Amino acid sequence: MTLKDHILAALEANRQSALSGQALAEQFAVSRNAVWKAVNALKAEGYDIESTQNKGYRLAPDCDRFSEAVIRANLNGSALPIAVFDTVDSTSNEVKRRLAAGERGPFLVVAEQQSAGRGRLGRSFFSPVGAGLYMTIALAPGMAVEGALGVTAYAAVCVSDAIERVTGRKTQIKWVNDLFLDGKKICGILTEAVTDFESGTLEALAVGIGINLRPSAVPEDLRDIVGSLNCDEPVKNRLTAAIAEGMMNYSPEDTGYYAEYRRRSWTIGKRVRCAQGEQHFIGRAVAIDDHGALIVEAEDGQTHVLRSGEAKIIPGE
Ligand code: BTN
Repeated sequence: MTLKDHILAALEANRQSALSGQALAEQFAVSRNAVWKAVNALKAEGYDIESTQNKGYRLAPDCDRFSEAVIRANLNGSALPIAVFDTVDSTSNEVKRRLAAGERGPFLVVAEQQSAGRGRLGRSFFSPVGAGLYMTIALAPGMAVEGALGVTAYAAVCVSDAIERVTGRKTQIKWVNDLFLDGKKICGILTEAVTDFESGTLEALAVGIGINLRPSAVPEDLRDIVGSLNCDEPVKNRLTAAIAEGMMNYSPEDTGYYAEYRRRSWTIGKRVRCAQGEQHFIGRAVAIDDHGALIVEAEDGQTHVLRSGEAKIIPGE
């Protein structure tokens, strides 16, 4: 880690009070001038650092920017490679470019904003600066393609759990893997697989996660649907580390996470409007099985097992 990284991690760990230039210089065995230069370099990168002559330096209370050093400090010694971007088209595109160039998972890409964030089913994902957490983790599970189907449900549980631990907010999972708080979507997950067609094995999984941390000027058509965690504290680095740590523990053999998925489900028991390929029907979601399929009892009495597609909750029922 560079001096800049060390200072940023120290300021992050000591947000309540200021750290003097002298104390930082002593802690890292450098001159006060070196500390001053490193702080200025951090400010130039966009970190809002307040400095007072008597007290020293501290991160502005609302400064919530990604930092490799701070994510790593929360990763319990993991050597996970981390790439931090100010702006990128999509963290998932960047992961795929890196995989195509020969990089092997696990590794993590995060960005303050995305110019072309992508959602499921070819939709776009609104990703403005300051409002959200945008991350994609590449995993290299080395398994048959079918073995990885559970990663989507696993990711939903993992993110919901990390949000609860870091922010105290209890989110619910809308099948397949959207997270909701107070009836509004606050997180979307996009899982993509890179496969080796010849061997039929999975080279990598790219799990892209977008979390709305704070309200933003969402496009008109999304206003009633999209919410946020309303975080008034900086959480980005801790939350990213908690999610990354959970994701690295993914093991397709252990399907115990489905119990937790069901416990956090917002879909079970609700009336839903379903789409699966060309098929459309309305019914009641009654269960989620241990393969992540949604069981729906349709109005015509038929039972459907949805392995993919969409189930929109019909409000008020
Ligand atoms: C959805 O709700 O349909 C899924 C949204 C996934 C958004 C995340 S943000 C980080 C990563 N990069 C992307 O372009 N998409 C995912």
